[in-house]
This record gives sequence, C-alpha cells and structure tokens, in this order.
Amino acid sequence: MNKKYYITTPIYYPSAEFHIGHCYTTIIADAISRYKRLTGYEVFFQTGSDEHGEKIEKKAAEKGVTPKEYVDKIIENAKDLWSSLNISYDYFIRTTDKNHEEAVQKIFKQLYDQGDIYKGEYKGLYCIPCESFWTESQLIEGNCPDCGRPVKEVSEEAYFFKLSKYQKRLVEFYEKNPNFILPLSRKNEMLNNFINPGLEDLCVSRTSFKWGVPVDFDTNHVVYVWVDALSNYITSLGYPNCENSLYQKFWPADLHLVGKEIVRFHVIIWPCLLMALNLPLPKQVFGHGWLKIDGGKISKSLGNYKDPREYINSYGVDAVRYYALREVPFGSDGNFSEEALISRTNSDLANNLGNLVNRTISMSHKYFDGIVLNPNISDNIDNDLKSSVLALKDIVDEKMNELKVGEAIEEIMEVLRKCNKYIDETTPWSLAKDKSKKERLATVLYNLLESIRICTILLSPFIPTTCENIFKQLNTTITDYNSITKFGALQTNNILNKPEILFTRIESK
Ligand code: MSP
Repeated sequence: MNKKYYITTPIYYPSAEFHIGHCYTTIIADAISRYKRLTGYEVFFQTGSDEHGEKIEKKAAEKGVTPKEYVDKIIENAKDLWSSLNISYDYFIRTTDKNHEEAVQKIFKQLYDQGDIYKGEYKGLYCIPCESFWTESQLIEGNCPDCGRPVKEVSEEAYFFKLSKYQKRLVEFYEKNPNFILPLSRKNEMLNNFINPGLEDLCVSRTSFKWGVPVDFDTNHVVYVWVDALSNYITSLGYPNCENSLYQKFWPADLHLVGKEIVRFHVIIWPCLLMALNLPLPKQVFGHGWLKIDGGKISKSLGNYKDPREYINSYGVDAVRYYALREVPFGSDGNFSEEALISRTNSDLANNLGNLVNRTISMSHKYFDGIVLNPNISDNIDNDLKSSVLALKDIVDEKMNELKVGEAIEEIMEVLRKCNKYIDETTPWSLAKDKSKKERLATVLYNLLESIRICTILLSPFIPTTCENIFKQLNTTITDYNSITKFGALQTNNILNKPEILFTRIESK
C-alpha cells in the first residue's frame, strides 16, 4: 500500500470536560479518516490533549490536586467520550507524555543554538492576585477580566522566537500553495490582519508559572504554549528520532483540521517553526466554523449544554454523528439544537434511510422468503436508478476531497430518496398480486437491495454502526469500495436476515 494520509485534530485543553464543540471537530476528522481508509489510504489519525499552562495549574490548585492528577481524570473521561462516539483515532498524544516533553526540549534547544530563539523581555499587563498576563483588548474597562481588579504593567524575562525572520518565506509559501489554507477566505484574513502589518517575534517561555516543559538549559523558564502544543504533530511520529519512525512515513501531514480561532497559529507560527527546523510544511489547514448553541457560545458558565453522552444515550451515536456532519455547512458557523437534531434524525435517518431499508428487506421476506434473486427484467426506470447510484462514487469523492462532508452526505441522501420514490413508482405490492410479474418484482427488489448496499458502503464513514447493521440485514460481506463501480455485486440466492428498525421516529420535545 502506498497511499498515505495523516490527519490531525487540535489537541484540546483539558481544563474542563470536553463538550459538543470538541466533538464536532473530532467527528469530522473521524469521518474523513474513515473515508480515506475506505478508499484505500493508510491513515494515521491523531487527536490528543494540550495539558500544560497556567490555567490548568490554577484549576488543579483550586481542587487541591496536582495538575497531572487533574488532567488525568479529564483525559480518562475524554477517551471514554471518543469511544462512545466511535472515534477511530490511531494515536492520542498528551503533551505530558515523556517522549513529547523530551522532544520539545530538543526542539527548543536547537532553535536557541541556531539563533532562532533569543532571550528578551516580555512586557505585559499583569493581574497580581490572579497571576495572569492580559493584553489590552482582553481587559474589561481597563481591569482584569477575571477578578475586575486593576492590572499593572510589568515585564518578565522571556525567550522569543524570531517569527519576523520567516515572514517573506511564509508569504511565498502561500503563493506557491494556494490550497494551503481552507476555506480560501481565511487566507486573506491572515494576510491582511496579521502578516502584512508585520509579524512580531513570539514569546515562547514564561517564568511566572511552573506547569510546563522546563527549558533544560535555563530552568527558571517553562516552554510557553505554541512550541509545546504545535510540535505535537511531529513528536507523536517520533521526531526528532526519525529513523524508521512514523515520521518518515507520515510527515508532512495531509490535513490539520482546526476551529477558525486557531487557524492563525497553524498557518503562521507552525510553518515558521517548521521552516526554522528545516522540515517540510503540512499540506493543508482547514479552519471550520463554530458550533453555537441558540446562536451563542457553548459555555460552561451559561450551562447551555449537556454532556454529549446524554445525546448519544437519547438518540443513538449515529444520530449525533450524522447531525454534526450534515448540519453545519463547509467552513461556516452552525447552530446546535436538540430540536434540530431530532428533526434531522427523523427526516433523513428514520424516514429516508431507515424506511427504505425496512420496506425493502420486509418485502423481500414477504414475497421471496428473504431470498435474493436477480432475473434482470429491466425497464427504463431501473436504468435511471442504477445510473444515479453508480454516479455517487465520483460525486462523493469530489465533495470529500474538497472537505464538503455535509454535501457528500446530502448527495447520498438524495439517491436514497430516489430509491424510496422508485418503490412508490414500481409499486411492488401490485406486482405481487400478478403471478406473471414475479420476475419483475424480484428485479425491482434486487435493484433496491443493491442500491442500498452501494449507498451503505458510501455512508459507512459517517454512520458506521448503522451501516454495520444494514450489512447484517443484507447478509453480505461485499462491502469494499471496489465493489461499487458496477451494479450487481450483491450475491443472489443469499438469504437476507430479518428486518430490524434502524431509527424510530423521535417525538419532538
Ligand atoms: N489547545 C489548543 C489547540 C492546540 S492545537 C496545537 C486549543 N484547545 S481548545 O480546547 O480550546 O480546543 C479548541 C478546538 O476545539 C477548536 O479549534 C475547535 O476545533 C474545537 N472547538 C471547541 N469549541 C468549539 C465549538 N463551539 N464549535 C466548534 N469547534 C469547537 O485551542
């Protein structure tokens, strides 16, 4: 196998339990990973947690536990959440992993030795009681946004990374790689707001807190945020020990999938760090929109969301996955509401997919004792259906390559609607009344079963559990991607399993 694909989610801060917003990125990354695996790629799908920093240090202190104890508990819960959502990650990196910490120290030292990191002074607005630095724009009425008390201008010794040195090369890279940042609108935002006004060197160490990777040649300092966080994408692959490692196989990453607020770090700081390390740059960074609740931010303090597992328990894992993947358009913000989840599940999964599978399998049992037959008594209406089903493979592939996951799904749903319409138009129940139409009836049912099989293969990256169930009902093992280029791979004389309801209609709350 030689097609490889490396995809990452951001590493999330375990300062609090993960919510539906974190699930959103992770579900999309999972769907893309599964799709790539289906289509023959060897995939490395990575997620993880960004565990250092002052915020976590403080939260742990409030609870009277060590920062490591604090994050361990949240990570255990997060892994359980990913398993409830059927997230098929290959690696979960934690920035407290020993190999990551050692690699970060080596990276920091190398950049220092070669003159890309230098010692300077960090000036900022500091809240003494909260022990926090703030920027001018974060202040509320000139005071600390956390406690409301006045802040003081202070300076602390810090190391800086020479971001400015790489500005020209960065812009050239964007020009040579027009699809590096997606959606394209985000590229102009980066150039106009951050790069063209001139990049400032980046503060990469702190002395005001301890919970971080120590700078090994100056132990008053810990590595501050982005050098620690961004380098996760290569340390997990074994960098800087590259021989025979995953690094050789998978770097550069094909896709960093991130929320729009951290695109900036991934398309400015990260490429510049990699240039300084003389390493290849990732191929693409996709910045998706935010999932909002009732139009606003998902917020713990507002208490406007539930543990995502509550939705899974009420509606099933695939209803939640489907909603996250289908509802929010490419790159824009979207709204999460339980009402919309219910209505999406009812319309697409229960009425369209579920109903089609149930009607088809039930009729096959009723008229042919579940035996799959294909006398191939064709009509124009059949060719129409078959060509729509066969066209799907390329359409879905094109949409997925553009990361338009919701549109890819909608194309499949549209063909499933066609299948339901085909039932209404061919009226198998009337064919069944006429003995001379038995072969035509068998053909109609075969066309439906085969269409379901093909659509199910294409749906499997998005709603894997449901698709497993459909394959079981179809009693088929012919589920590989190559089997959908021709119509007719479903074995005849096979006996279908009994129909099972895939999704029951949910009553509105
Ligand atoms: N630790 C950094 C990322 C470092 S990556 C080298 C961080 N962590 S975070 O916990 O704040 O997670 C941010 C990511 O979570 C967002 O970029 C996004 O992918 C996801 N989301 C968090 N809330 C979200 C929504 N409300 N909607 C959509 N995605 C959300 O930033």
